[in-house]
Amino acid sequence: MITLGIESTCDEMAVAVVEDGIEIRSNVIASQSDFHKRFGGVYPEMAARQHVDLVIPTIREALEVAGVEPEGIDLIAVARGPGLIGPLMIGLNAAKTLSLAWNKPFLGVNHVEAHLYAAMMSNRAFVFPALGVVVSGGHTFLVKILNVGQYEMIGTTVDDAIGEAFDKVAALLGLPYPGGPEVEVLARNGDASRFGYKAGVVKGSPWNFSFSGLKTNVLYTVKGQNGNKRGKSAILEADRPDVAASFQEAALRDVTNKALKAAKEFECRAIYVGGGVSNNMRLREMLKSDIPVYFPGKDLSLDNAAMIAGLGTKLFSGEGDSLDLEPSSRISF
Ligand code: KG4
Ligand code: ZN
Repeated sequence: MITLGIESTCDEMAVAVVEDGIEIRSNVIASQSDFHKRFGGVYPEMAARQHVDLVIPTIREALEVAGVEPEGIDLIAVARGPGLIGPLMIGLNAAKTLSLAWNKPFLGVNHVEAHLYAAMMSNRAFVFPALGVVVSGGHTFLVKILNVGQYEMIGTTVDDAIGEAFDKVAALLGLPYPGGPEVEVLARNGDASRFGYKAGVVKGSPWNFSFSGLKTNVLYTVKGQNGNKRGKSAILEADRPDVAASFQEAALRDVTNKALKAAKEFECRAIYVGGGVSNNMRLREMLKSDIPVYFPGKDLSLDNAAMIAGLGTKLFSGEGDSLDLEPSSRISF
C-alpha cells in the first residue's frame, strides 16, 4: 500500500511517500524556520501564505523522488491537527483536492500521535503495551500505548510544553529561534549542577509536568529578581552555558524520571519517544532503561510527513474521511 503524507501543522510544509506504513520512498521537508527567525517564533499567517506557495512543488518533488505516479497512490494521509489553523487548512485542502482529483481516499491523522509512530517506524519496532513520551514544542505527555491508535493518557503538562520552555529560555539567553537545538549546543560547555534548578511538582498529580516555574527561575537568573534592570543582564557572558546546562538538565531529568517510573508502574515492554525535543542528545543519554527505548531516526524526529503517511496507513480501515473534515488546532489524545 502506497500512502502520500502531507504535514503542514506549523512552519514546515512536508510531503512524503511511504510504502506499507514503514518504507520511506521520499520525505521532503520545506522548512521556513530561517524565514521566521526574524520574528523570534512562527508567524502563523505568514506560515500559511508560504505553505500556499510551497504545497504543490513539495507534492511534485515527493512524487518524483519516490518515482510514483498519482495512479500508484492508494491513500492520502494528512495532519488535521493539532497545530496552527491557517497552516493546517492548506495541507488539509490540498489533501481533499487530490482526493477528489485522483479519486483516492484521504484520512486526517493526529500530528502528535504521528510523532510517537515515528519512533515505531524508524526502529521497525511494534512492542506493546508501551510507554509513549511526547516531548514537542506544543505538547509534553506520557501515554500508555496499547496498540497503534489505542492510548491511555498518564500525565501531561499543566502549563508550558517542554519545547516551548527550551524556546523561551533560548530567547532569554539571546539565542535565535528555534531555540531548543541552540540551548543544547550552548549547554555542552556548561556546568549543569551550578544553578540547581528543578522542574515544578504538580500537587496530587505525580505524572503531570510543570515547566513555567523553571522558566521563571531562569528569567530571575538572567535578568535579576527585580525585573530586567533596564534590559541589562544579571549574568556574565561566561555564565550563559551554565544557565543553559542547568535548565536543560532539570527539564530532561524530570521527563526521564517520570518516564522510567511510569514504564514500571504501567508494566510497559518498551518506551517510544516522539516530538522535536527527542532530537536532544542529552535526553537520549539520560533515558536508558532495561526495556528497549526507541527514538525516531534523525529524519523523523522533527516535523515531517513520513510519520503522517505511516500512521495513516496503519489506521486506514478501507474507508477514508469525508470532505467535510475540518482542521482542528486542538485535539485531545
Ligand atoms: O515536534 P516539533 O518539531 O514541533 C511540534 O510539534 O511542536 O518540536 C519543535 C520543538 C521546538 O520547541 C524546538 O525548540 C524543540 O522541539 N527542539 C529541541 C531540539 N530540537 C528541537 N529541544 C531541545 N533540544 C533539541 N535538540
Ligand atoms: Zn511536531
